[in-house]
Amino acid sequence: MAIRTAIAVANPNIAFIKYWGNRDHALRIPCNGSISLTLGGLETQTTVTFDENLTSDHVFIDDRSASASTSARVSQHLDRIRLIAGFKYCAKVESRSNFPVGAGIASSASAFAALTVAGTSAAGLSLQPIELSRIARLGSGSACRSIFGGFVEWHANETDEDSYAEVLAPSNHWDLQDLIVIVNQEHKGVGSTEGHALADTSPLQNARVADAPRRLKECRRAILDRDFPSLASITELDSNLMHAVMLTSTPSLMYWYPETLQIMNEVTRWRAEGYEVCYTIDAGPNVHCICTRKYADRIEKRLRRLPGVIQLLRASPGNQARVL
Ligand code: PMV
Repeated sequence: MAIRTAIAVANPNIAFIKYWGNRDHALRIPCNGSISLTLGGLETQTTVTFDENLTSDHVFIDDRSASASTSARVSQHLDRIRLIAGFKYCAKVESRSNFPVGAGIASSASAFAALTVAGTSAAGLSLQPIELSRIARLGSGSACRSIFGGFVEWHANETDEDSYAEVLAPSNHWDLQDLIVIVNQEHKGVGSTEGHALADTSPLQNARVADAPRRLKECRRAILDRDFPSLASITELDSNLMHAVMLTSTPSLMYWYPETLQIMNEVTRWRAEGYEVCYTIDAGPNVHCICTRKYADRIEKRLRRLPGVIQLLRASPGNQARVL
């Protein structure tokens, strides 16, 4: 092996039932299962080149050298792949995404899914999707869901071997749209890795986790039956529960901006008018407005008229992470 290279592409995902808090931080075994939609149209493309002439890993994100902490996290992930492949060659990693990174659009999900697929392929490994999902999970929890397309469930479970994601329904099952309203493009202050570690300091986390099986069941049923009103209420409840935990952690995490709250209010008002739309928010100020295709154009127009909207991205059900 002198030089081996592979390119992979992966989509981010948006969780209806969210992952927040770990049972095991090092292995990223979550406190609760989660369900998401893989977001087609938004993507991270990553090239991994193992080169026996390199003496250290080199990581570039959008053509710039990555920070020391990001490079270390990528190298640690490559170590997992090198261990399985049984070699120690260093690599050049070049990654680029077509959406703002670090602002609550799960960029780490598409980044670590693409890194896992490109890295294992460049290493000459041929792994089953469940294996890829487990490896991706070690880089970033939500990345285990981005290995798959469509509607995806991550089974929390308790060990490294059985904590992985699987397809709940394929991408053509239900043509939901995600209108992602960007109200702030800056990189978030407290990233999700640090945030997960704070979840247990909230007195609300135990109640949130204890009720998760009920929410997962309701969400699964709503997706399989294409029941939008049920999906909307369980998705908004789950997002509000996660943000309640964030707000009541020590230190307290407050990701919302005034514009975030305004969009949440408008979306619930529009739903009361009969529009099929609901909101969900990750660890950032931007709002994901999930809607059925029938209402998407009208909702997009209304969202674009709101003050403070910097950019609006639109995603449709996406496909699994793949080698190009
Ligand atoms: O995978 P991480 O560590 O970036 O955590 C993701 C956390 C949320 O996006 C807030 C929720 C989720 O399930 O995607």
